[in-house]
Amino acid sequence: MEVIVAEHAGFCFGVTKAVEKVYEQIGKKDNIYTYGPIIHNETVVSDLEKKGVKVIGSEDELDDIKEGTIIIRSHGIKKDIYEKIQQKNLEYIDATCPFVKRIHKIVDEESQKGKTIIVVGSADHPEVEGIVSYANGPVFVIESPKEAAEFQIDQGTEICLVSQTTFNYNKFKETVEIFQSKGYNINIVNTICNATEERQTEAERIASQVDVMIVIGGAHSSNSRKLYEICSQKCARTYFIQTLDDLHLDNTKAVKLVGITAGASTPKNIIEEVQNYVRRSII
Ligand code: F3S
Repeated sequence: MEVIVAEHAGFCFGVTKAVEKVYEQIGKKDNIYTYGPIIHNETVVSDLEKKGVKVIGSEDELDDIKEGTIIIRSHGIKKDIYEKIQQKNLEYIDATCPFVKRIHKIVDEESQKGKTIIVVGSADHPEVEGIVSYANGPVFVIESPKEAAEFQIDQGTEICLVSQTTFNYNKFKETVEIFQSKGYNINIVNTICNATEERQTEAERIASQVDVMIVIGGAHSSNSRKLYEICSQKCARTYFIQTLDDLHLDNTKAVKLVGITAGASTPKNIIEEVQNYVRRSII
């Protein structure tokens, strides 16, 4: 019996940097805030809360803040929120991942040239809300190949298409092919980040070999949910858990190979805990 742990499991470099930036401020500054939870991981967020880091949950809450340091999380924030923080003269540390910043820049520049922007991603995800806010003209969010098939626009429209950094790579390809088949004047920029692409490709490969696949990630973490979606297509016994407490493996006698992967917001210690537990239970 064997356990395969994905090499690209857990914190990506953007999340690592953002979390480090918050911990660095503790003890140095009073009134530390993050705009929204710094990552989709309750264990990390509650540890930070215990150390005095507060989460700003909405624009109204931001309005009430008079002083302090705000840390902007790795998937970025909306342009108007960013401007509000600056106008209020609040100190801020921008931990937006460079891959996300790049998308903001593309959307800003291409829409200034008069192009219509299409963002392939989940409309209600904060990263996508942030990307959309940088458009200076028409912008659409397409969540699936089905929506791409239904989408209609004047043939002469110049379009620039980008993606949420953590979008499912195969679905992105499928979506792009649909747009291309419609004969639009479209400039496609694959902005899925390398960390996501590697994580998904590896997870898919492992899931297709194992009897049981475990995906560790926050319930609200979009990249973890996508990993689960990818893995469950290859392995019928795929479990999606937040922590070890959620894992209830049954019928382990028939299990020869277990795979483990984790989303970008899963700390190393949780992956290790799960790995140790699985190794103990299947021997
Ligand atoms: Fe950045 Fe990609 Fe992570 S965009 S925050 S490296 S998932």
